[in-house]
Amino acid sequence: MFTIKWNGDSVTILDQRLLPMQEVYNTYRHFRDVADSIRNMETRGAPAIGIAAAMGIALAALTVASNEIENFKEEMNRICQIFAGTRPTAVNLFSAIGRMKKIIEKGNDISQIKQQLEKEALAVYQEDIEANKAIGRNGRTYLNDGDVVLTHCNAGALATGGYGTALGVIRAAIEEGKKIHVYACETRPYLQGARLTTWELSRDNIPVTLITDSMSGHFMRTGIIKKVIVGADRIAANGDVANKIGTYTHAVLAKENGIPFYVAAPVSTLDPDTKSGNDIPIEERSVDEVVFIRNEQIAPEGIFIRNPAFDVTPAKYITAIITEKGVVENPASSGIGKLIKS
Ligand code: MRU
Repeated sequence: MFTIKWNGDSVTILDQRLLPMQEVYNTYRHFRDVADSIRNMETRGAPAIGIAAAMGIALAALTVASNEIENFKEEMNRICQIFAGTRPTAVNLFSAIGRMKKIIEKGNDISQIKQQLEKEALAVYQEDIEANKAIGRNGRTYLNDGDVVLTHCNAGALATGGYGTALGVIRAAIEEGKKIHVYACETRPYLQGARLTTWELSRDNIPVTLITDSMSGHFMRTGIIKKVIVGADRIAANGDVANKIGTYTHAVLAKENGIPFYVAAPVSTLDPDTKSGNDIPIEERSVDEVVFIRNEQIAPEGIFIRNPAFDVTPAKYITAIITEKGVVENPASSGIGKLIKS
């Protein structure tokens, strides 16, 4: 299984909309299809969409016809803008696009720029896998043998280049011999937990129990859940974390019940330019995701519906932010400054 693959002249993407019932890979030769695959959730998860954008931009460069450097750069910048417009919350998308734009700006030879863009896209991909392994090594000490760990959404191999962030920490703890049981929240409305996290973990024989989002408080209060670990889409300078809608609720419940709440993310998810969670743009997705479950309408016509895809968990609810460059414990007191300087 892989999330995304660069083929030299095309990009292959696992269609996550069809999981777990079908494992289908689509190969795209045109950058617009790659941009669409981010927009329509064929690929998703903050690091994975950054990788998809980088590969999509490298792919676009191969097809831009212009032989004139300024025209080429103008066209490539326009394409970067298309990728920037796909999803607003995960900052990894913008950091990956920023890396590609730098190459376009600096270059003065079209064929060299094309080669460098391909190299950079592969670096974004490879660095993410390495970062996840390091996040796992840095985070595994926070999990004890026998822990039942709650996670929300999918912050696993499917959401990244491979291995995963939150699920990477769980994988690393298991690799060092600890017994960990995962409670996966279904993650309404898009069901990343029910469809993706359970699929990914059970393929690796990691014990997983599926619960609905509203059950987490019950399992915390009754002492079943010992830790919570989630990924992130953007972490503001003050340590506030945007992640999949529902994360905030789990964090408040964890604090109320004295349960550690960890966030695992690569430094590409840190956004020192965004002061606090209040400044993070929250994507509102189609209300159809709320009203329909697998094409079945579950609510009447003519009502008001909202569908924010993310929420913000204030730093005060977070026990530690685990990255590949180190861990910030109690981010409410220090923000992410330590990680930015390292
Ligand atoms: O809407 P999605 O599925 O892209 O949202 C994904 C999440 O919120 C993940 O938890 C986050 O991106 C971390 S992935 C390592």
